[in-house]
Amino acid sequence: MILLLAACADPLYPVCEEEPPVGTRADTPTWHAEVRALVEANCAACHTALGLAPVPLDDYASAAAYAGAMATAVATRAMPPWPPADCCTPLQHSPSLSPEEIATFQAWAAGGAPEGDPADYVAPAAQEDGLSHVDLSIVMAEPYTPAPPDGTSDDTRCFLLDWPETEPRYVTGLGVRPGVASQVHHALLLTVAPVNVPLFEATDALAPGPGWSCPGGVVLGATGWIGGWSPGWTARELPEGTGQFVEPGSKLLLTVHYSTPEGDVAPDATTVDLQLADEVDHTLTALPVYDPAWLLGDFSIPAGEPDVVETYHGYFGGAWMLLGVNLHMHERGKSGNVGILHADGTSECLLQIDDWDHGWQGDYLFETPVRLAWDDQLYVECHWDNTEGNQRLVDGVREAPRDLVWAEDEEMCVAFVTVISPL
Ligand code: HEC
Repeated sequence: MILLLAACADPLYPVCEEEPPVGTRADTPTWHAEVRALVEANCAACHTALGLAPVPLDDYASAAAYAGAMATAVATRAMPPWPPADCCTPLQHSPSLSPEEIATFQAWAAGGAPEGDPADYVAPAAQEDGLSHVDLSIVMAEPYTPAPPDGTSDDTRCFLLDWPETEPRYVTGLGVRPGVASQVHHALLLTVAPVNVPLFEATDALAPGPGWSCPGGVVLGATGWIGGWSPGWTARELPEGTGQFVEPGSKLLLTVHYSTPEGDVAPDATTVDLQLADEVDHTLTALPVYDPAWLLGDFSIPAGEPDVVETYHGYFGGAWMLLGVNLHMHERGKSGNVGILHADGTSECLLQIDDWDHGWQGDYLFETPVRLAWDDQLYVECHWDNTEGNQRLVDGVREAPRDLVWAEDEEMCVAFVTVISPL
């Protein structure tokens, strides 16, 4: 881990630099002896015939045809998709490959992608995927067929799910089972408190078909946070004794980002699997890190600017144990980071995303909880590129850059930090 001190105003908080993968190997591994198990363990969650990724890589012929592209994709760390830099606070479930594994892909491609002997195959160690047990499964009330606007391949839709429990309950684990795996790019789950249910039901009733379009994905202010999910990222179980409170009479808000670059669409009914507890030692909450002044208009991203920066730091009213973090921007996001600013002026990074991609947003749990002292502040820093090359496609046409403000359909910068109070 190398921490660099910020020499000037850009970037404003110190960023860490990922060490480039250095492994090399002189011999040529074969598909059966090594590459196949690496693909099965690290790529096959998406790269199968019916998976989310555009090309299957889980049989020899398909993989051999893409050997060069695979080597490049892993060496640049574009694959497996995992936006956080590895040099910040260690995160659970990081799928990042080791330098030796990257070198294996490279040496296989360089050596002509030989198949080898099927007898040499050793299956990868079974991965703990999914929840250890499921207490409640809720499926979308009606299947929804993604309907991206003409010329686009993305449709983000919000659905209200009924919450059947009649006593106060705590959610301790979350898994998501997509109805149509090739379409579901990521999903978020939030709670809608009983007082807000009529408002959300009215929104749902106004939009034709199941659910309603919610391009930003997160509906601020009105909802509690449960968690996020992406294919290949395992189900999450919260630390022992912790959970998210759900009142009887609540609803769940499921946001599904559908991505259908091939153009084929099919009705999807996604299921959420939950672990529940009647009691926990600590209730989790999410601290939203953003500047309240941004909502009041002190937030502008001028058209044509290649690097617009907004930062905020603030106190959060006491000492907390931080369990996880996520960062939320929209399409013109470029990079961002979230961290702790100590009273002595030093800082500690919690999440750093060097190459923001709106399609790959995650909800990350720390390997070990991090302590926030009463005199520490949390900071968030967002960068946007609002030039022509980084605009959304609408009806097949790239939008012209325009001045952007804080809005569901424009841009945002907010980190949610999942915490328990240490008391
Ligand atoms: C979480 C799902 C996921 C995992 C895991 C994953 N990929 Fe991908 N991959 C994708 C998607 C989706 C694309 C399409 C481009 C994009 O969205 O970035 C892609 C694109 C690619 C491409 C470019 C294909 C083309 O059309 O040229 C290559 C090569 C690739 N992945 C290799 C890999 C390798 C090698 C691994 C494992 C080490 C891997 N991927 C793991 C989802 C995944």
